[in-house]
Amino acid sequence: MLESPTTEAGAKTASAQATEEVLVLDFGGQYSQLIARRIRECGVFAELLPAVVSADQIRERRPKGLVLSGGPASVYEPEAPAFPDELLELGIPILGICYGMQAMVQALGGKVEGAESGEFGRTELTLRNAGGRLLGGLPDEQSCWMSHRDTVFEPPPGFEALASTPGSPVAACEAPARGLYGIQFHPEVVHTPYGTEVLTRFLREIAGCEREWSPRSVIAEQVESVRAQVGEGRVICGLSGGVDSSVAALLVHRAVGERLTCVFVDHGLMRLNEAEQVVAAFEQFGIPLVHVDAEERFLARLAGVDEPERKRKIIGEEFIRVFEEEAAKLEDAAYLVQGTLYSDVIESGGSEAAETIKSHHNVGGLPEDLEFELVEPLRMLFKDEVRAVGAELGLPERMVWRQPFPGPGLAIRIVGGEVTKERLDILRAADAILQEEIRAAELYRQLWQSFCVLPVVRSVGVQGDGRTYAYPIVIRAVTSDDAMTADWARLPYDLLERVSNRIINEISDVNRVALDISSKPPATIEWE
Ligand code: XMP
Repeated sequence: MLESPTTEAGAKTASAQATEEVLVLDFGGQYSQLIARRIRECGVFAELLPAVVSADQIRERRPKGLVLSGGPASVYEPEAPAFPDELLELGIPILGICYGMQAMVQALGGKVEGAESGEFGRTELTLRNAGGRLLGGLPDEQSCWMSHRDTVFEPPPGFEALASTPGSPVAACEAPARGLYGIQFHPEVVHTPYGTEVLTRFLREIAGCEREWSPRSVIAEQVESVRAQVGEGRVICGLSGGVDSSVAALLVHRAVGERLTCVFVDHGLMRLNEAEQVVAAFEQFGIPLVHVDAEERFLARLAGVDEPERKRKIIGEEFIRVFEEEAAKLEDAAYLVQGTLYSDVIESGGSEAAETIKSHHNVGGLPEDLEFELVEPLRMLFKDEVRAVGAELGLPERMVWRQPFPGPGLAIRIVGGEVTKERLDILRAADAILQEEIRAAELYRQLWQSFCVLPVVRSVGVQGDGRTYAYPIVIRAVTSDDAMTADWARLPYDLLERVSNRIINEISDVNRVALDISSKPPATIEWE
């Protein structure tokens, strides 16, 4: 995926296109993004904005409702973000979740206090007052997920308490006439079984959202918006083989047809047959594709380099060089497609920010003087929504569900030594066996990533009548939601046995297979 430090062209938000939306004000909670995702799963478009946004900025968007997220602060800390009173003047329903509820309750005269022990994890919720407008009709007893230390002991005057748990005398409250609602538990996490019902109640019955939003509706919207942006211009797109750049390219192709040219810089560091799959998929769509076979160039520059950061740097530089050479051949291309996602936009400082994206793990950071205007059709979508759009556009299942893969590819998985063609081929063969067996066991989609690592050491083994002196292969398979934390996957022993046998039997340069059983932190997902 190509990255660029500027994103101005794509700074337009989807709110201009979506007529019905709900805004989530982010008080810094660990689940804030998840709230927005869940609301979208309920069929209502949602955007996340920092809690400091002004009432006027909110008014301009004309949202149907507001959701205040949780957050790490205690309402008693001097610096704690306060409930902005001016929100009350907007005249739209507000749902406070966790900290969002506490801030609202405290501002309006209720009682919030630090409890001796917090309430974390699953707990039993009992409805009061028949659940009121927000929770009415749900089971009187249900479980929910909590994560708080401060606790609401009394709702503000004019509010009614709707539920309690062993640790929260007021686990939900409301003042329907004023459009104010609060829940202490987290409806957005899967451990709250009725969470989706609660959100739907707020969105549909209370906020009155009527339209059905889906990631698919983005296709038509973005096709139009790309046409409007690009006019008769020519567009270029750097393909990485990953789902983001592929879906972005497909969308733009739908908008401008053959005025899009894709450039696939094949650095020779991809997995087995992956380059061929990319080429075949784009041929099938009739998308003009320049496939640059640059393996030799990359390997020549990587010769003799052991150090991982050097490898990354060289690959990044060479990538830009090759891309620039190809771009120069398409003289009249003025637009560059990027697969920037909503999570990149949020992480780089909110939807209005025009800043560096994905800089940390970025392969081909394009230089600032590359004078393209950016086209970013996925800017408003979460990863799972991009997959849905990709599937809708007909992207092959293998590409839609591809696990994340680092831009520098297999080069960083050859650890403690130089990257050579021979080692790459060994690693590719081992990786292909692992992927094949994991897919056959129907575990591929459950794993965040699964791959092989080749440490450049050799050890003695015995095969047939002779001794061998060969490489080990390390299997790394993890589960994760966002790559920030990860756990090692408990792969079945019989699967591991098959993988190990096949790798050692089929690849003569390998005589040992090991399994990485470290979580992140303290380890990382990749070895390098
Ligand atoms: P770590 O190893 O830091 O990786 O736990 C976190 C996630 O980032 C991916 N990764 C990369 N992605 N370019 C990318 O596009 C890179 O250079 C890169 N390095 C690591 C890694 O696979 C994992 O999903």
